[in-house]
Amino acid sequence: MSTSNFRIIEYEKKHIVDVNYNVGIWNIWDFEHDQYIHGYSDTQILYENTNSAILYQRAKVPFLPFISYRILVNMQRINKYTSQSISYSPFSKLAVATMTVKPITESKTEFIMNYKVILHSYFKFLAPLYRLMIQKWTDQTWAEDLPLKLRRQDIIQKGFKDFYGIESSNQKKIEISIPLPKLKSNNLFLLRKKITPFFKEDEKNQ
Ligand SMILES: [Fe+2]
Repeated sequence: MSTSNFRIIEYEKKHIVDVNYNVGIWNIWDFEHDQYIHGYSDTQILYENTNSAILYQRAKVPFLPFISYRILVNMQRINKYTSQSISYSPFSKLAVATMTVKPITESKTEFIMNYKVILHSYFKFLAPLYRLMIQKWTDQTWAEDLPLKLRRQDIIQKGFKDFYGIESSNQKKIEISIPLPKLKSNNLFLLRKKITPFFKEDEKNQ
């Protein structure tokens, strides 16, 4: 799809995994793992509430990991099944990731990952390269996230409770609430603390 002054590159992939729907939602809205699993170093959460978040991250260029750049990411929970992130980077107008998580059974879920990059007109000649980069980034991100999903499903089935341990093999708390509780030792709010009191009403989530 293209118009005179921009081009949209799209890539979509579906997966079915033996995890609960809430494990999929948890994985999308857990921002603590981004810097350790995906290499989004220095991730900062500028704002978050029950259905949105604003992140300030440093991303790496696929195929060229020695090049990194700052991105501002706006996360939205469109509905119960669909979350969307919209970010702006120096190399494109917008990158839109739409992640749909559909329960099939209690322990089986379908994931539909759709990525669109809207290129500046003067970068249109790089469209084939961008398509390769999106495919690589999508597949790599999925592969990095999959062990986290499977491990969380496993520990929940064993009765693990977040920040507590194994409470009882009969108590399996799969439901989550957003924003997710965070480790007190993380550094995800350093920048946000500097720009308070703008975000003061939301400090209880830190
Ligand atoms: Fe992830």
